[in-house]
Amino acid sequence: MPLFRWILDITEGKDIICIRLGGMHVVIINSPDLGLQFLRKHDAIFASWLLLMSSGHLGWGFLSIGVDPWGERWKKMRKVVASELVSPSRLRWQSSARDEEADHVVKYVCRADCWCSLIFALYAPDFMPSLRWLDVGGHEKMMEEAMSLICKFHDPIIEERMQRWRGTGKETEVGGKRREVNDLLDVLITLEDNEGRPLLTAEEIKAQISELSFASVDNPSNVAEWGLAELLNQPMLLRKAMNELDRVVGKDRLVQESDIPQLPYIKACAREVLRLHLVSPFNLPHEPIEDTTVAGYFIPKGSRLLLSRVGLGRNPKVWNDPLRFDPDRHMTDGPLEVDLPEPKLRFISFSTGRRSCMGAPLGSAMTVMLLARLLQAFDWSLVPGGSNIDLLEEKDSLLMAKPLRVYARPRLSLLEKLY
Ligand code: HEM
Repeated sequence: MPLFRWILDITEGKDIICIRLGGMHVVIINSPDLGLQFLRKHDAIFASWLLLMSSGHLGWGFLSIGVDPWGERWKKMRKVVASELVSPSRLRWQSSARDEEADHVVKYVCRADCWCSLIFALYAPDFMPSLRWLDVGGHEKMMEEAMSLICKFHDPIIEERMQRWRGTGKETEVGGKRREVNDLLDVLITLEDNEGRPLLTAEEIKAQISELSFASVDNPSNVAEWGLAELLNQPMLLRKAMNELDRVVGKDRLVQESDIPQLPYIKACAREVLRLHLVSPFNLPHEPIEDTTVAGYFIPKGSRLLLSRVGLGRNPKVWNDPLRFDPDRHMTDGPLEVDLPEPKLRFISFSTGRRSCMGAPLGSAMTVMLLARLLQAFDWSLVPGGSNIDLLEEKDSLLMAKPLRVYARPRLSLLEKLY
């Protein structure tokens, strides 16, 4: 049985439990109230991550934010991303590029590969380092292969761009005018410190670009895949979503980010997928930097803290009929209140505290847009002869066991003109 399934089994029904894995205390949380105590009240003590095998590969030796344990480099990178990549003005600046990407999605209805299951998978040697040489399940080899594929794709683009901005005979001028910063990669390359030197090294840029790609691809595609499957299995809900899109957007144009506030039911569908179908069973392991006591529980320095995304999102003490896909459960506070973040930690979408997601507004917009565009632009149906879609998960991850296979028939006449 995979390690994560074993942990989910033994922790089911318990608010908090401590197990010993190798020589380590691993504390697992299934209760929103306790989660908030750890990640809000005692946030400063739990803001460091455990150094994971997957994070080392992904972050070029822990150079990017999401995998950097804690310290000066994490602060520098977090400041750069907050002020230069995901600030409200940057989000506005990039909105037409995102619309263009959303058009591509409609054009190439496709399935993105899910790398997240590798990054977030529980890898036994992270808790028992003496076992690392065994590479249980070939996990490290797969991570190396995944990273080498990504580098093959990203590196030439990043290096060519760096050469342009930083190389000898820099082409920072075109036709006598200063070259314009066109995208987020240009932004990262051109940042300077107080003395006018490049703020980020090539490795830091590569690590951060890989991390942002991971962060922004897997969650939205996971929501779209599970969302379509759940909605197709419950045609009444699908009709409700389509009615909202037709009423708010109509059939003469494609849905845009500016429509999102008027699409509470689509947001509720996305939120329900984030509650029920997660890209990973746990969040990244937090590591307390000193001995501490939380809600009466003594937690020694060096323990690992795991918030169970499954234990929270599918918790029967928190959610009625938790395994049922029911977007309406998120509509009870009124349509204006529906949003993807869950600050009360009744499930984990963007988490909370110092290590919470930096891209919540961007991630929300991308996720809702992807689902809304796929729903609006196509009539979806089961393959002929198919009954309900099988919602089984893979044994080794929470991804859909069988890739979703459904028919998409364009439903907007404007698509014929566009494509
Ligand atoms: C629907 C989309 C997204 C979801 C559901 C999501 C979720 C999360 C979660 C749960 C964490 C905390 C990790 C943990 O506790 O294990 C996180 C961290 C992070 N996310 Fe996101 N994310 C999304 C999109 C994005 C986007 C678009 C960006 C940036 C452009 C981003 C940047 C980050 C960064 C940098 C961190 C690490 C923060 C730190 O360690 O200090 N995310 N995300």
